[in-house]
Amino acid sequence: MREITYRKIVAERFGGAEVLRTVRATLPQPPRGHVRVRVLAAGVGFTDLMARSGDYLLQRRTPFTPGYEIAGEVVDFAVDGEAPSWLEAGVRVAAALTKMAGYTEYITLPLWQLVPLPDGLEPRLASAVPLDYLTALSLIDTHARLKAGDTVLIQGASGGVGQAASQLGRLRGLRMYGTASAPGSRDVLARHGVRYIDYRHEDFEAVLREREPGGVQAVFDHIGRANLSKGYRILAPGGVLVSFAFSGRPGHMVGDTLRGATRLRLMNLRPGRRAAQSVVPWEMKSRRDSYRAALARLLDLAHRGEITPQIVATRPLSQAADVHAALERREITGKVVLTAD
Ligand SMILES: NC(=O)c1ccc[n+]([C@@H]2O[C@H](COP(=O)([O-])OP(=O)(O)OC[C@H]3O[C@@H](n4cnc5c(N)ncnc54)[C@H](OP(=O)(O)O)[C@@H]3O)[C@@H](O)[C@H]2O)c1
Repeated sequence: MREITYRKIVAERFGGAEVLRTVRATLPQPPRGHVRVRVLAAGVGFTDLMARSGDYLLQRRTPFTPGYEIAGEVVDFAVDGEAPSWLEAGVRVAAALTKMAGYTEYITLPLWQLVPLPDGLEPRLASAVPLDYLTALSLIDTHARLKAGDTVLIQGASGGVGQAASQLGRLRGLRMYGTASAPGSRDVLARHGVRYIDYRHEDFEAVLREREPGGVQAVFDHIGRANLSKGYRILAPGGVLVSFAFSGRPGHMVGDTLRGATRLRLMNLRPGRRAAQSVVPWEMKSRRDSYRAALARLLDLAHRGEITPQIVATRPLSQAADVHAALERREITGKVVLTAD
């Protein structure tokens, strides 16, 4: 096995997009139980921008390489006992990461994190599946346990996680409301069968009280603060508020996350309704088999065209800083994929 020299993107300190630099590194031989992967594509999510600016509870140290999801091809591996039949050099794989590291040309990952791509699924498309769609599955299945006909409010339904939840919700036969505001959001939501609420001009609590007087079975929230109580109040008896971020106040997200998590726990002291928090990087670690089965199922759905990540731009890895800056200025809105230069 050879040593590999490669480039990766590093946030050398917390700050604006300019802190992202390309650095050279060497990838040592893989430790036992690990696989070296040449990364062909890495998804960019809002969480990466939060982490880079120092606003993300799960990334409190620099330097680090952003990125929670990749697709690539196996270079080599050091696996104890019998390797799974699919594992060989050149096989294409995807993974969600438990720790950010995805903006890179090469990566070493534990075998359990890798899922082989269905034949013919483009790595670029595959790299946009893991984080958003695993989060959506965690919301719908793990925490809310929704069934056909149930009604849900999806906050940020035009975003990466929101559209993933909308697409999976439609496949499940859910009745869905969604909040968004950007121009064109009404059409985006309508494509997924989601009723649109413009959060800048409408109060979602008032809208839901009027249209769903019996309450909704679930609310998926990524804003936090006042939204948590408002979401809780529109739940039907037995309903659940699932929080998947606390991103309503940029610059204060670490504190808002800690306070928000406490608030969810307090809500659970009251009977009748539930509150839960979805944190996919933690859930992956504690339920490895479920993670692998879920990602395999999602990649298969993507291959069959039943879910379609909405990739708005594909850029070379070396342009990661420009991509972050463009997303922050809202010159690009939506999912971006970084590909090997
Ligand atoms: N729990 C997990 O494991 C996990 C996994 C992935 C992501 N996340 C988190 O989930 C959040 C969303 O990520 P993403 O990648 O989907 O982000 P994104 O693509 O940037 O989407 C954000 C969405 O939020 C909407 N929005 C903004 N302000 C809002 C408000 N006040 N009320 C309702 N909607 C609002 C935006 O709508 P307009 O643009 O139309 O205004 C957009 O639809 C982030 O905080 C991210 O860190 C958590």
